[in-house]
This record gives sequence, structure tokens and C-alpha cells, in this order.
Amino acid sequence: MKLSVIGCGYVGLVTGACFAEIGHEVVCLDINKTKLKELSRGNIPFHERGLKKIVLNGIKNKRLSFSSSYKKASLSDIIFICVDTPMGSNGEPDLRNFYNVRDSLKQHFDSDKIIVIKSTVPLGTNKKLADYFNKYTLNKNYMISVCSNPEFLKEGDAVNDFMKPDRIVIGCDEENITLIINKLYKNLNIAKKKFIFMSPQSAELTKYASNSFLATKISFINEISRVADHIGADMHQVKDGMGSDERIGHDFLNAGLGFGGSCFPKDLAALNAYQRKNKISSGLLEQTVKVNSDQIKYFIKKIQNEYLLDLKNQRILVWGAAFKPNTDDLRESMSIKAVKKLSTLANHLYLYDPLCRKSKILKELKNLKNITVLDKKYSSDKRVKCLLICTEFDEFKELNFKLLNGYKIFDGRNILNRNKVEKNGIEYFGIGT
Ligand code: UGA
Repeated sequence: MKLSVIGCGYVGLVTGACFAEIGHEVVCLDINKTKLKELSRGNIPFHERGLKKIVLNGIKNKRLSFSSSYKKASLSDIIFICVDTPMGSNGEPDLRNFYNVRDSLKQHFDSDKIIVIKSTVPLGTNKKLADYFNKYTLNKNYMISVCSNPEFLKEGDAVNDFMKPDRIVIGCDEENITLIINKLYKNLNIAKKKFIFMSPQSAELTKYASNSFLATKISFINEISRVADHIGADMHQVKDGMGSDERIGHDFLNAGLGFGGSCFPKDLAALNAYQRKNKISSGLLEQTVKVNSDQIKYFIKKIQNEYLLDLKNQRILVWGAAFKPNTDDLRESMSIKAVKKLSTLANHLYLYDPLCRKSKILKELKNLKNITVLDKKYSSDKRVKCLLICTEFDEFKELNFKLLNGYKIFDGRNILNRNKVEKNGIEYFGIGT
């Protein structure tokens, strides 16, 4: 089938490249021409495992192309909207990009189209768009149908998530359209039961509820971790004990610095804004956000306590800048938040991230003079005796104990084994461990 994908960010690029990989002919559109030029050469502007390979593959077999022309994109019968919907004022998503896409596309329409919304949009947006196009096409000889197909891709594992999804949600009130979208995924050869058909409203809410639930699970376990610190329990053991109940499960029960990224904070804010606007009683989601922002204060307090509340002579090594491992994404990163706060308290910080470019980190940390971004894991500054682990990259689990002689380690992601670290004469502080 011929498809267009509007927006070459994480979601759009992965969607477009994966659809091309499973046999469709895909045009990916973006308004950023420099980005398009790079993409046409197979240069991906961010780190995403396995993406480059399938983009190059798609270009080579001519199933994947890039364009900035809405006229060209509007020629496909099925058009996916994958533009970003950033957090606007009051927590509501800013839909300017989304509506620009609608308006840029519609002027080229002259035959039936299906618009599939993959962007995470405020509740009710699918219906609004469908109503809009019903009116718009009243005196025209074609129809524009709207369908919700939310994305559940995890950054860093997005290609795998697309190819082997847990579920594919299709939210549409028109049966024939649902069948067409269903068919698009046929070549994935996944079990029938993984396709879940529902109304557009349910699909939109499924997306918000899923992310909010996962975020709440993290805040829950982080709240428990503070109790564990108090009583001397170990969160690794508690997680094991809790997660073994199949109803609870082990996933998203890692206590630590809390969640970041471009999705959880934005989606929680959006759902919460909807509750407020529509006077729907609420409380849980606000607390999820509060526990998350308190967690970073809790971590910094833990460090301060070990230095008798005085960090001003401390030179600190920090591992991890990205909001999670296997990505170079710094958006809403807990590490960046911790580093910004600590730069006001400590003497100097050395920051190392295995994937994120130095220039990108420096840009994020703009005016902070007392931070050096390292291109290797250890600092040669002998005055550094404190290590913070802020992102759970696998490579941080391997330590060179000789180089860490005399250090205190504050493990903000609970990835190290306390006994092993302490056996090597190093002081260890986890979160609820
Ligand atoms: C999240 C969802 O997991 C995806 O299903 C969804 O499609 C995506 O948002 C989206 O809406 O686009 P992502 O933002 O890539 O994906 O990140 P996650 O892997 O969910 O991790 C989020 C944060 O939670 C990270 O900062 C991670 O370090 C933290 N986390 C995760 C914990 O603190 N503890 C855990 O046990 C798990």
C-alpha cells in the first residue's frame, strides 16, 4: 500500500521506516529540509537502535522516500500524522503543529483519504478532526475518514516494539476503515488477539491511561523506597516479592530517580489538565507527578547528608545524562535536573554519557560554568571522590574499583550490587537499598 507519514521525529521516522520494511511504499514528510537531506542519505538525527539499518534498506529498495511537499504527501490514500504535540500552557498539549498539518494537507485533497492519528493528542481530538472534515467535504465528491492508532513505542527499543508489538490499538467508528488499517500491519504476522478495535475516544484514552499507569507504578515504588530506607528494607527484595504476584508483575518497579522523557510528564499533564478543565475529580495523577519531582530532592538530600549538608568543596562525577538508557534523549531527564541543582551546591561536576554528544549536553546545560562533559567514564581529577549514577546504562554496572578508590557511590538507579561494591572498600548509597 502507499502511505504518507507526516513528521520525521522518533515516532514518524520509526513508523515510516518500519512500514517500508514490511513492504509498503512510504513517503515521509518533514518541514525541516536539512533533516530531510540527511535522512535521504541514511543519517538519523538521534540514536535509535536498528533504525539506521531499516532506513538505509528502505532507501535502497525505493520503498522509503523523504519529501517536504504536502502535495506529494497528500497523494497517498492513507496518511499518518506523527508530529509532536508538546506541552503547552496549563499542561494541555500544544496542537499548532498538528493543525498546521491538517491545513497544509487539506488544500491538496481531491479523493478519498484516511487520516491516521499516531501523535498523542488530547482526548476528543479524533472526533473534532472527523467533524471538521465532514463539514469540509460536504459539497465535495470525496470523503476524509479519521482513525486513531496510538503508538506504544519505547525510545531505544522502538523498532523492536513496532515489529513485535504487545498490541495494536485501532480506534475508529467505521468498520471498512478499521479493516484497511488492520491490513497495513498484516506482514508483521502477529497474533489476531493483539489487534484491539475500539472507538477513537477509547483509543485516545488507552494511550493516556497506559502512560499514566506506568508512571504511577514508578512513583508508587519510589514512595515505597523511602519507607525502605527508613526501616532498612531492600527494594531489590521488595520488588522481587511484589513482582512475583502475576497481577503486579516485575516491570516498572525499579526504584530510582524517577521518570523523565518526552512522554510520561507530558501525558500526565495532559490527562490532568483534561480532568481539571472538565471538573472530573482527581488526585492520583497529581501525586504521581509530585512524588516524581520530590524524588530528585530526596536523592540530593541523601548526598548532602553524607557530606554534612556541605557540598561546596565537592567535585562530583556523574554517569548518565539521558533520561533513560539506549537513547541520547535529554528531554525531562532526571540526570540533567540533578546536575543543574547540584551545580549550585557543589564545587565542580564531571558528566559522562555513553551515547549523547558533548555539544548536545553542553547546549542543555547552557550557562553552567562548573560542569565539564567527559568523553570517558572516569575523571583524571584526583580530587573527585563522589560518583552519582543517574541513568541505568548497562556499562555503568561494570566498575574499575581501582579507579574508584576512596569514592562514595550514590546509585540513583539501583543498578549496582551493594555487597560487591562494599567488598571493594567503597561506600554505597542506593535508593531504598
Ligand atoms: C513511554 C512508554 O513506555 C511507551 O509505551 C510509550 O509509547 C512512550 O512513552 C510514548 O508515549 O511515546 P519512553 O518515554 O520511551 O516510553 O520511556 P520508558 O521506557 O517508559 O521510561 C520512562 C522513564 O521511566 C525513564 O526515565 C526510566 O528511567 C523510568 N523508569 C522506568 C523508572 O524510573 N523505573 C522503572 O522501573 C522503569
